[in-house]
Amino acid sequence: MTLDELIAPLEKQGEVTHRHGDVRVSIASLTDDSRQITPGTLFVAVKGERVDGHAYVRQAVEAGAVALIVQDASSVSDHTVPTIGLRDSRRALGLLAARLHNDPSAHLRMIGVTGTNGKTTTTYLIKAMLESAKRKVGLIGTVSYEIGLERIDASHTTPGAVELQQLLARMVQAGMDSVAMEVSSHALAMDRTSGCEYDTAVFTNLTQDHLDYHHTMDEYFQAKARLFTGLTTSGRKSGPKRAIVNVDDPWASRIKEVCPVPVWTYSIREPSDIRAYDVRLSVHGTTFRVVTPSGEGQIDNLLVGEHNIYNVLAAIGVGLNEGLSLDVIREGIRTVRNVPGRFERVEAGQDFTIVVDYAHTEDALVRLLAAAHALKTGRIITVFGCGGNRDRGKRPKMGRAATERSDVVILTSDNPRTEDPMAILKEVEVGVRDMLQADRVRYEMIPDRRAAIEMAIREAKSGDMVLIAGKGHEDYQIIGKQKFPFDDREVAREAVGKLTR
Ligand SMILES: Nc1ncnc2c1ncn2[C@@H]1O[C@H](COP(=O)(O)OP(=O)(O)OP(=O)(O)O)[C@@H](O)[C@H]1O
Ligand SMILES: [Mg+2]
Repeated sequence: MTLDELIAPLEKQGEVTHRHGDVRVSIASLTDDSRQITPGTLFVAVKGERVDGHAYVRQAVEAGAVALIVQDASSVSDHTVPTIGLRDSRRALGLLAARLHNDPSAHLRMIGVTGTNGKTTTTYLIKAMLESAKRKVGLIGTVSYEIGLERIDASHTTPGAVELQQLLARMVQAGMDSVAMEVSSHALAMDRTSGCEYDTAVFTNLTQDHLDYHHTMDEYFQAKARLFTGLTTSGRKSGPKRAIVNVDDPWASRIKEVCPVPVWTYSIREPSDIRAYDVRLSVHGTTFRVVTPSGEGQIDNLLVGEHNIYNVLAAIGVGLNEGLSLDVIREGIRTVRNVPGRFERVEAGQDFTIVVDYAHTEDALVRLLAAAHALKTGRIITVFGCGGNRDRGKRPKMGRAATERSDVVILTSDNPRTEDPMAILKEVEVGVRDMLQADRVRYEMIPDRRAAIEMAIREAKSGDMVLIAGKGHEDYQIIGKQKFPFDDREVAREAVGKLTR
């Protein structure tokens, strides 16, 4: 495709502010990362979170870029290659990548899931359910990206705009018909999903996280809302468009207000279109009855805890919108055994329960502990910490949440990154101390995560439950700027092995 063909739609929208050189140059690929340039590449200078791509224009040309797209034409002193100025190069990046890859999202049923918690779990459920209806479903999310049997380690929950379009194009080539995709608020705020036309958008919930980045809950909401405001019935695709919204969450009404397409609501408590009742929680999973626009049915699933009922309800909404029968949906949901690192049990022959869970927000910890309480037979020993260089406001809140419903709390490091691990623990401790009543709860502060897990496991007696929260499926720990191998599940297994009984 030539540069002028590539920018034609943006030209029509009046986005082009500057032209220089011969725009009939042929474009083989494009990138916003000057290190990724090979001959034939178009370099798009984007003002990012940390760096401004305009500073790398010269490097890009030296590396073989055949053309440039910039936002700030005056900052570009290199006039050796054709250059286009655009009003918003960041938003254009995804649109151009999509166009260069033949608009992959137009050839897929695009299901986007956003919210503070539950995205990964919900996408797993959606994928399994659609597959039981013989659909071919790609997956994009925190744990991995999947195209058929191929698994690619995820760099971000939602990849960058160019990588995302490449990934979608590969899915189309591989014969996928649908995608279950986690859409993070960062990705929405940074326009990584521009160029994607979604068919269904799911809103799981909105609770405090990432306020280091979004500053206020309202700003955080505005980012999430973009997935819904972007839904359009006047797009290029014909299938049914819909939003699936959890109305037990206080932000739901605002999501509904901004939604230009029909909405199905889901809930356990409030009246809604897809509602669970007769809920039974057990160590083996949950069962409940569900009322839907297509009738009523019984759902059994192997995921533990009430929070997972919400994730299942969201998946049911997606399935119904895709035209699946309640019977097929029920079968699909039943096949999901567990999601890696989400209420994942470690069985190493011990006579107490060990659960590894990705809870790393206050709300997730509250729900994890509620699930643990519904199932417990002894004490609850909770090991957790908070990530460094991220939202500090949630630290004491997580401390409070853990202490409120545990018998023993062991504060330890999550990914401390470049912060002092003990300083993070002290901020969590403020919340722990708020909740200490008499001698009911004991707490320890052990920055070394392995030592903390070992202590919890030595402490556990028959029938107790050890909850190891915060890192879930992660198989590394980030200390300073380095990534060290560390897997809570393995460390817990080894710790059980060290017990002499
Ligand atoms: N619907 C839910 N509501 C509240 N908490 C949940 C819900 N589902 C899962 N959780 C809790 O949140 C944790 C993370 O779940 P999951 O990985 O599915 O969410 P996520 O939105 O993908 O998170 P991330 O933004 O980190 O990718 C779980 O381990 C569990 O403790
Ligand atoms: Mg996730």
